[in-house]
Amino acid sequence: MTDLRVRAPATSANLGPGFDAFAIALPLLAEFELRPARAWTVMVEGDGEGIPTGDENLFVVGARAVARAARAHLAPQHVVQRSAIPGGRGLGSSAAAIAAGVAAANALLGEPLDRRTLLRIAAEVEGHADNVAAALYGGLTIAIPTADGPIATRFTFPRAWRVCIFVPHRKLATKDARAALPAQVSRADAIFNLAHASALLGAILRADGALVSLAMADRLHEPARAKLVPGLGDVIAAARSAGAFGAALSGAGPAIVAFAPARLASRVVATMEEAADAAGTTGRARVLRVRAAGVQVRPAP
Ligand code: HSE
Repeated sequence: MTDLRVRAPATSANLGPGFDAFAIALPLLAEFELRPARAWTVMVEGDGEGIPTGDENLFVVGARAVARAARAHLAPQHVVQRSAIPGGRGLGSSAAAIAAGVAAANALLGEPLDRRTLLRIAAEVEGHADNVAAALYGGLTIAIPTADGPIATRFTFPRAWRVCIFVPHRKLATKDARAALPAQVSRADAIFNLAHASALLGAILRADGALVSLAMADRLHEPARAKLVPGLGDVIAAARSAGAFGAALSGAGPAIVAFAPARLASRVVATMEEAADAAGTTGRARVLRVRAAGVQVRPAP
């Protein structure tokens, strides 16, 4: 059997009003090299803090879930995992591992499952569909819940725009950030998000920065999470004042994402770092583009 190399991108979910639905893929990659082995083993290269190497490893969990769904025997693999995605920051490190695991298993088994089924399996493992949709498909995705599981639709992000990401040094567990959310929302807040999310997608599709400024606002998750992310409001305001169209918590946080025109992106990241520092949060900001490609499975070189 051929040795495989699988790459899956980081993702930033929600983008403000698109809670649990919108996400973009980013060019920070998790990479997994596979070769057949007697039993499943995982070796993590680089910063492996908190990444399980046994059966709970998310790549392995995703891969085995695909084998179960396909009712097929998946030969055990030795997996070497390395990742440029900072963990516990709201940048989809778990989703990348799951997307890579489901895609790898499907390739090893001769592609028995279609993309939609892979998305459903990945979303079941992850608990929500937004990050795994962008990790599987690339670009900008919207995960649409249906009675038969999520379906994702993919859009292109404006080429002239940049994604400015501030990544704090401190981690925040997604389960803690989800535990902070209210169980119910008011009708007024639901309407607020419906209008803003719709406008945000329209703004991105027609590359309308002024409309992003209006649309990138949320009432479903950011207000409840602000207490877990010191400086959130300051960093968002700073990004906007430096020329970003809009900014928001990245996924469950604590990273913060901003959209900016390319010519202002370096100023935006510098200003985000300064504002975070002034609020007592150290971290590093960087300029990225949206990555068009999702997970890729290739023969190992
Ligand atoms: N939509 C999810 C959340 C993303 O905000 O909890 C988790 O990264």
